[in-house]
Amino acid sequence: KKKMILDLDTGVDDALALAYALATPDADLIGVIASYGNTLVDTAAQNTLNLLELLGATDVPVYTGYAHAAGSGPFETMQISMDIHGTNGVGNVELATAQRTVESTDGEDAADFLIDAAYTYRDNLIVVPTGPLTNLAAAMKKDPAIGDLIGNITLMGGALTVPGNVTPYTEANINQDPAAADYVFKHGRHVVMVGLDVTLQTLLTKEETKAWRKLNTAKGTAFADIFDYYIDAYYNLDINKNGAALHDPLAVGVAVDPNLVTLLPINLMVSTEDGRTIGDPARALEPIKTNFAAVEVDTPFYVERFMNYMVNILK
Ligand code: BDR
Ligand code: CA
Repeated sequence: KKKMILDLDTGVDDALALAYALATPDADLIGVIASYGNTLVDTAAQNTLNLLELLGATDVPVYTGYAHAAGSGPFETMQISMDIHGTNGVGNVELATAQRTVESTDGEDAADFLIDAAYTYRDNLIVVPTGPLTNLAAAMKKDPAIGDLIGNITLMGGALTVPGNVTPYTEANINQDPAAADYVFKHGRHVVMVGLDVTLQTLLTKEETKAWRKLNTAKGTAFADIFDYYIDAYYNLDINKNGAALHDPLAVGVAVDPNLVTLLPINLMVSTEDGRTIGDPARALEPIKTNFAAVEVDTPFYVERFMNYMVNILK
């Protein structure tokens, strides 16, 4: 069975990615690294611990990753992120504080955890970052051999065929640390980009969250409250009136089952000018592609699978 490490800036849709990763029968979740983005890294780590406890997965280690991009100043959460994810990152829903704490608050330990896992599991390891690529790039720079060891990196980020969501060109996760994303694209053996091209096509509505509420469990209600906040934010901010995007759980879905999407083989890079994910001219003619961009998604099939997994784990 595949082993999975998540790197989350938890985050409403990151919370769903976490639940999906625990629910999928196709991979074992062996650890989570926290990142910054939707919220501060410490808040993301605490949210992750709280959610794992709520979901009964108290044996999954959590590491606090780096607090900001290498070479840049302290990170502050943007107002728009707080509007979308709540000031606490999880839709202002108050989760019970977990009994345990993180394994380490040192970003370098998080990088070492990734490096060790790469040597232990090699081809069998799937790394799924759904926030900035800071932690993964740091690990790959610290030990350049792991770029070739990790079997599969499937990240949520970028936009190839559609506009960005932070500027007309750039997507939020890439925008936080363009240099790190560029490094990962260029040095990973197999990197799948699950960007806005596909994630904006997977929307969830209150019809679906109602099904979690009906389960009458604390976790069902908490997840429904968290996601309803996000649906309301999408509506009020006029991002989408028809529901809210399942960005991060789609990356987890694709990581274990690439058949959910159509993958375009294309070696990618991040433009230093505008943070845009584009084809890398230096590697365009290479016969072997190491990067793949998801450009189409089987939405009904994916949403049905997502709902089955969620209902199962929230029971
Ligand atoms: C991405 O940015 C974050 O707001 C979400 O959690 C997702 O990972 C979407 O651009
Ligand atoms: Ca995220």
